[in-house]
Amino acid sequence: MLIKRPSDIASSEITPPEIYRRRREFIKAAAAGIGLAGAGPLLLGGGSVLAETSGGTAIPNVRPSPFSTDEQRTSLDDVTHYNNFYEFGTEKSDPAANAGTLKTRPWTLVVDGACEAPGEIGIEDLLSGFTQEERVYRLRCVEAWAMVVPWVGFPLGDLLRRFKPTSKARYVAFETLLDPEQMPGQRRSVLDWPYREGLRMDEAMHPLTILATGLYGELLPNQNGAPLRLVVPWKYGFKSIKSIVRIRFTEREPQATWNMMQPDEYGFYANVNPAVDHPRWSQKKHRVIGEGLFARKHETLPFNGYGDQVASLYSGMDLRRYF
Ligand code: MTE
Repeated sequence: MLIKRPSDIASSEITPPEIYRRRREFIKAAAAGIGLAGAGPLLLGGGSVLAETSGGTAIPNVRPSPFSTDEQRTSLDDVTHYNNFYEFGTEKSDPAANAGTLKTRPWTLVVDGACEAPGEIGIEDLLSGFTQEERVYRLRCVEAWAMVVPWVGFPLGDLLRRFKPTSKARYVAFETLLDPEQMPGQRRSVLDWPYREGLRMDEAMHPLTILATGLYGELLPNQNGAPLRLVVPWKYGFKSIKSIVRIRFTEREPQATWNMMQPDEYGFYANVNPAVDHPRWSQKKHRVIGEGLFARKHETLPFNGYGDQVASLYSGMDLRRYF
């Protein structure tokens, strides 16, 4: 079984509301102490200690989600050392080695375009103002490998609704930070910077689509797109834009980086689809990182296994044409 239904979640797994309400104070302390991460346990007012795991800052009171897969999770080491983040280099090991130059505080997200209430919101408010859930999703990359990652985040739709999109808002455009000082890869023209992505409005509002603030219970490591990245589990990984600074409601289909670079290889929709091969390799199977090169390959499922939830978004569309 791939996806847990709400009825599969034991009530003991759900955080009691009184603990939950303390989240705001906790997060503020965690955000203030971000520079201390790795320098020992973080002391709060009353002498209580925030749990530390791998040296990052724990996000408190994360709720489990009914949408999580129960597949074996990829190790934290693999999730944080096998990355695509061209702003820090084009090799998989480059982001972990180089992303330390990215400053994630302060961080402001601008939301504008076709909406009644354009504005901006800081990362602390994104952490404290939205219910943080653990969503264990498989990230299937177009290069035919996958990882199973326990993301922490909240539905993108919860954020978008606050800015009151108008009837002209048919798409949502996303942009990564543009700052070659902090992102040395942007000094080279390997991509047309800043990295950009887009979703159709119904895809953006779908409850499976999240903005991730963390993984493995901690604030996102820089190489995974700190402090805020998109995760759309039924699409190829390149849609998961990292280190987002701007979200814009648009009437027209927005530009998306890989689609602009190589439109015959990377479509705007990028739905995981074993029936539509990448021009240079098959998309029927994938390897799971960490299982080793000689492990059995896994069959790739349409919409990455989320067909029950999302196939209806594309009814009547020719998915070979709109790949
Ligand atoms: N976002 C930005 N800004 N820059 C990138 O190069 N790479 C994409 C996506 N988001 C990328 C990005 C690709 S190709 C993939 S597969 C995923 O991030 C990888 O996410 P991960 O490193 O957390 O596994």
